[in-house]
Amino acid sequence: ARVHRFKWDVKYEFKSPDCYKKLAITINGKTPGPAILAQQGDTVVVEVTNNLVTENLAVHWHGIRQIGSPWSDGTGSVTQCPVLPGDTFTYRFVVDRPGTYLYHAHYGMQREAGLYGSIQVSLPDGMAEPFAYDYDKSIILSDWYYQSTYEQAAGLSSNPIVWVGEPQSLLIQGKGKFDCSKLAPPSSDPSACNATNPECSAYVLTVVPGKTYRLRISSLTALSALSFQIEGHNMTIVEADGHYVEPVVVQNLFIYSGETYSVLIKIDQEPSRNYWITTNIVARNATATTPPGLAVLNYYPNHPKKVPPTDPPAGPIWNDVAPRLAQSQAIKARQGYIHTPPLESDRVIVFLNTQNNINGYVRWSLNNVSLALPQTPYLVALKENLHHSFDQRPLPDQLPDFASYDIYRVANNTNATSSNAIYKLKFNTTVDIILQNANTMDENRSETHPWHLHGHDFWVLGYGTGKFDINNDPKKYNLVNPIMKNTVPLHPYGWTALRFIADNPGAWLFHCHIEAHFYMGMGVVFEEGVESVGKLPSEIMGCGETKGFKRP
Ligand code: C2O
Ligand code: CU
Repeated sequence: ARVHRFKWDVKYEFKSPDCYKKLAITINGKTPGPAILAQQGDTVVVEVTNNLVTENLAVHWHGIRQIGSPWSDGTGSVTQCPVLPGDTFTYRFVVDRPGTYLYHAHYGMQREAGLYGSIQVSLPDGMAEPFAYDYDKSIILSDWYYQSTYEQAAGLSSNPIVWVGEPQSLLIQGKGKFDCSKLAPPSSDPSACNATNPECSAYVLTVVPGKTYRLRISSLTALSALSFQIEGHNMTIVEADGHYVEPVVVQNLFIYSGETYSVLIKIDQEPSRNYWITTNIVARNATATTPPGLAVLNYYPNHPKKVPPTDPPAGPIWNDVAPRLAQSQAIKARQGYIHTPPLESDRVIVFLNTQNNINGYVRWSLNNVSLALPQTPYLVALKENLHHSFDQRPLPDQLPDFASYDIYRVANNTNATSSNAIYKLKFNTTVDIILQNANTMDENRSETHPWHLHGHDFWVLGYGTGKFDINNDPKKYNLVNPIMKNTVPLHPYGWTALRFIADNPGAWLFHCHIEAHFYMGMGVVFEEGVESVGKLPSEIMGCGETKGFKRP
């Protein structure tokens, strides 16, 4: 196994990814940042220097379980004190499984400013994937806002709330196109938005007719659920979050923030032209606000700038949940690569997802508790027994009134509170999580939430619509070939059932991957086996109650 070393300079720079000039967070001058390519079993060492000048920083390695290195998970307030401006922090971890993973900022709302990239882990020499392809390409999908992270964060924590709204653009591999003529003065200044700026020329994927491509499609949107499609080409889903999928052929791929997929496409269409690659927002009504993301599938030897002769295909209807649910349910583990889950679980936690008003502030809660991150990182507080740094009271595995809770009504949720308490899991036990969706504080509205677990993969046992039936729905769980994932959607007015083994000593976030929702408290922290975590590096300390712990 090899060691891959990277030195990253993280700073703010003016960028025009969709022609409109605004501040973006870059790594070594780029957003998306450099892709990390490694082989299973390799060690990745990233020295991150925070040159944001006035902001803290933490970088998370999304989908990497950090077995034996929980302090490298890069989660501010959970596994480390943030990296101060001017400081350098070294992340070191082993990529122990092949597949497609991500990295991104995990402090405040910095992810949406562009600090993200992909991690591709290949198989050891001599081992082959269970599918064939000629070329391997990676595409990160995102949404893009003109407000700064500060404006967004301040708006979300104001009373009354200033919601972030729909994004201005959708980016495909860091590129989009905003219609500059839509801007009102003074931002219509040509230096603020310049449609001829080469920085915002569409992303072009050049392909050779007759070949098969593996496209690693991942989403790091701040908010949007997306539909991704390639005009005239079906896609065969073969990997999800680092696990092989029993092949599913789709015309469009629904993808939620934090998910990664590999799809195979055959370059078998009329070769004298180019084709559109598009993204559309689904699950929220952005038809009037956000144009589709556009990129070009360039059939070699056509000119890459040759505009496809047809209109970009229209995306699916934004509020039709059924095809999204059907695609979620169609993703199963591939024959020959099935890890079967334990047939029983030791503990079942039912998380009711609600939007609440807490002292006049809009928050998201699980079982009426909205996560307020503490000053002292949980990992250090737990390992060093700093009992005063967070609320030691246990949290409920189910709301006492869950059975009678009406998920289709606006509830007043008067007893919701903000808290930094956590869930302690018994080491090596099997835990079931039922995510139950509900109505928000607006009539007839239930949102889509992509849930992401740090430090583990979980089995996806099932999805359903309506209220979860504790007595009967578990009988319908897929215990035969469930896919393992680290991020999974919770569909409107539905439920999603997960199972995982609490076998990774550390403190791990489980949260909605919508950046604003997590900022508004939509997450919990799990602890397991912290007593067996090795000596914590002093570099993760220095904040909250760990001030005296940091030795130079
Ligand atoms: Cu990709 Cu906690 O995040
Ligand atoms: Cu959410």
